[in-house]
Amino acid sequence: MKMQWASGVRAAGVVAGILAGAIFGMPARAGQSPATGAPAPKTAAEAYKNIQVLKDIPANELIPTMQFISSSLGVGCDFCHVEHQFQKDDKKPKLIARKMMKMQFAINADDFKGHREVTCNTCHRGSAHPMGIPEIAEAGAKPQMPPRREEEGEAKGPVATPDQVVEAYLHALGTPEAIAKVKSRVEKGNIAFGNREIPVEVYSEAPDKRVSVMHMANGDSVTGFNGTEGWLTFPGRPLEEMDASDRNAAKLDAEFMFPTDVKQLFAQLRVVSPEEVNGHEATVMIGFSEGQPPVKMYFDKESGLLVRMVHFADTALGLNPTQVDFADYRAVDGVQTPYQWTIARPGGRFTIKIDDVQQNVPIDASRFTKPAAPPQAPDAH
Ligand code: HEC
Ligand code: HEC
Repeated sequence: MKMQWASGVRAAGVVAGILAGAIFGMPARAGQSPATGAPAPKTAAEAYKNIQVLKDIPANELIPTMQFISSSLGVGCDFCHVEHQFQKDDKKPKLIARKMMKMQFAINADDFKGHREVTCNTCHRGSAHPMGIPEIAEAGAKPQMPPRREEEGEAKGPVATPDQVVEAYLHALGTPEAIAKVKSRVEKGNIAFGNREIPVEVYSEAPDKRVSVMHMANGDSVTGFNGTEGWLTFPGRPLEEMDASDRNAAKLDAEFMFPTDVKQLFAQLRVVSPEEVNGHEATVMIGFSEGQPPVKMYFDKESGLLVRMVHFADTALGLNPTQVDFADYRAVDGVQTPYQWTIARPGGRFTIKIDDVQQNVPIDASRFTKPAAPPQAPDAH
């Protein structure tokens, strides 16, 4: 069975989103509505200067699509672009990439009934030069496992029901009373990225508000979601509104802070074959929601706790995965909460370590209020 979802959905983790910009040095998403708010559904062709193939995709899907290309080929943006002159067609690989996009669309239209089965990654697998010849195995090397199809998956043997998995998870977290008592959480810690450490605070309030503040060297960077609106701020940049797909991801992240009813978060849940996470067997459950890519959840077989969550962000050419690993669970007021999580994307990974968790402390309402957009500097464009 195959679920369809609307394009334009970006299910990157909240903190993943902000850090992708701040740490991986990606340009801010252009084509966003100007600071005042009302999302302008611009197309890529309207928002950018030289779009010939991806003309009609939503403008805010262009950069995620570029990230998909880069990770499929295992290259940086500079493989095809000169920095700050992305519109120029002065590098040959950029011209080839346009042809390849048309080829991908044609293959899928002609041979796969219009389903997006073949993507850049199907052939490239992280290299600019796909291999046409099967490899001769190194002595003792394990044969490569075929990649999993992310959006489906029938269990090969008997597995637990979604109800059992959710029940075991909640049981592992604490008593229903203890879980229900947690209405807010303030977490303080650090983000380790290479040998840099950035102090971070995460404020959450039940059922679905969550704001992370990173204290960067050049100012604070905030990722906020108040249950309906989402926003991102970076030092020295105008406020960015989250698009619908970022909001979906932010909502899920926020809801998982207060997981009283996991089943309610998805239209459908399915348990598939178990996998290993860091050497431990994990039960794998996939959550489907209308119009969104699936979410994969991994629960430790022994403890029942959530140890991994994989989101997919849809782009014009394929899905960008974000993997969040949760570790170092400790009981706070009788409820298990992860003190460490590692966010990994094709471009890199970083770990957030929490030193201090406080629950049910009042959080100033202003934390969850979207800041008024500052007037744009005259030379902002
Ligand atoms: C393999 C080649 C390739 C790589 C790698 C690549 N791009 Fe692109 N990029 C393209 C092509 C091709 C287009 C034009 C698409 C079209 O015409 O529909 C484009 C267009 C763009 C544009 C629009 C410029 C304009 O004003 O017309 C931006 C911005 C951009 N890319 C940013 C990036 C970023 C950021 C990265 C790295 C994350 C990246 N690209 C990586 C091939 C690439
Ligand atoms: C059906 C398989 C297939 C698909 C799908 C595919 N490619 Fe390719 N691509 C190739 C082959 C084969 C080459 C030639 C490799 C070589 O020169 O060694 C190539 C070459 C390229 C090159 C030139 C590399 C260089 O070093 O100059 C770029 C850029 C590229 N592809 C981008 C893409 C992008 C972007 C996509 C997705 C839109 C894509 N490809 C999808 C098979 C594919």
